[in-house]
Amino acid sequence: MEIPLSSPDITGLEIEYVTKVLRTPDLSLGPKLVEFETKMAEFVGVKYAIAVNSGTSALHLIIRALGIKDGDEVITTPFSFIASANCILFEKAEPVFVDIDPLTLNIDVNRIEERITEKTKAILAVDIFGYPAEWNRLEQIAKEYKLKLIEDSCEALGAEYKGRKAGTFGEAAAFSFYPNKQMTTGEGAIIVTNDREVANLCRSMRNQGRGNSDDWLEHQRLGYNYRPSDINCALGIAQLKRIEELLGKRERVAQMYNMKLKDWQEVKIPCSSPDVRRSWFVYVVVLQDKYSREDRDNILQELRKRGIGCSNYFTPIHLQPFYVEMFGFRQGGFPVTEHVSERTVALPFYNNLSEPEIDFVVQSLKEIVSNLRK
Ligand SMILES: Cc1ncc(COP(=O)(O)O)c(C=O)c1O
Repeated sequence: MEIPLSSPDITGLEIEYVTKVLRTPDLSLGPKLVEFETKMAEFVGVKYAIAVNSGTSALHLIIRALGIKDGDEVITTPFSFIASANCILFEKAEPVFVDIDPLTLNIDVNRIEERITEKTKAILAVDIFGYPAEWNRLEQIAKEYKLKLIEDSCEALGAEYKGRKAGTFGEAAAFSFYPNKQMTTGEGAIIVTNDREVANLCRSMRNQGRGNSDDWLEHQRLGYNYRPSDINCALGIAQLKRIEELLGKRERVAQMYNMKLKDWQEVKIPCSSPDVRRSWFVYVVVLQDKYSREDRDNILQELRKRGIGCSNYFTPIHLQPFYVEMFGFRQGGFPVTEHVSERTVALPFYNNLSEPEIDFVVQSLKEIVSNLRK
């Protein structure tokens, strides 16, 4: 049996929508871009949505639109995908890491204030693995210290925190549509915001800094080509039409894993809270403290030998080789992040994963772990 780590959920609807665009001359900046943005803004519940070609581009444009620049500091989490800190480096600002809460795996809101300095301009929090950060507290801190608040919700489309949707808390938020995400556009992402100025700047910068003029070769500001094609947007429209179905299928798979793993003492299953709707992005278990990084790596290797896709989400950002080189970070700098990241096992997770496949994964994991030190 071969079970991939992730797999998109594409039906005839997506193929139909994409094929229709291919029969028109509008493959870029066409009506599907506008339609996709309108529908995304409606879904998240914000005024503006700007589609771009990746989550990384989305975060970069947000950083620029908020005026974060050389010499500024941005507080963020070291337990994330690299792009959530890199977007700060793109503008020569400095990521200031704050360790995570061991339960939610999101930035520890109780440790943020001690890292705020005169140079701090923003907090960029991540809804890791689709579990919302503590947005109420983050909003309070941002307000008190007059900081911008950025939501890296790339992994959390559809998540809710105390009845409010991810993407509606900060100045702006990013959702990614890479193929392993809740919905996909192949490559792509969306920026959402209620701030008209931020929206206008992002819209301009994704399109080479063009303004509203009819002159295609007039550029108002430094910009990029971060446009998604209308083919990507048509795929997004079809996926968004199915979004509750997609989220529901993921919930079902996650609950099956939860049921089969909750009474097994060797791992911690993903956390939950009545205050929160997690939008399931991945299914990551954390091995108990007694296991080492080596044990975890052996488990991944053995799972792969059995044809089971898996991963070690995430290596701490501060320990990535070029961060070590640039900032001199060392092992021990952010102990909670390091402890967790040495013990994570991301299991296969996608909408159409069947119960027999889940049983095979769970059974294999249990066998491998019990054979570990024999
Ligand atoms: C937390 C987080 N931020 C940013 C990104 C970047 O998104 P993309 O891969 O679309 O550039 C990802 C994506 O994988 C992510 O998980």
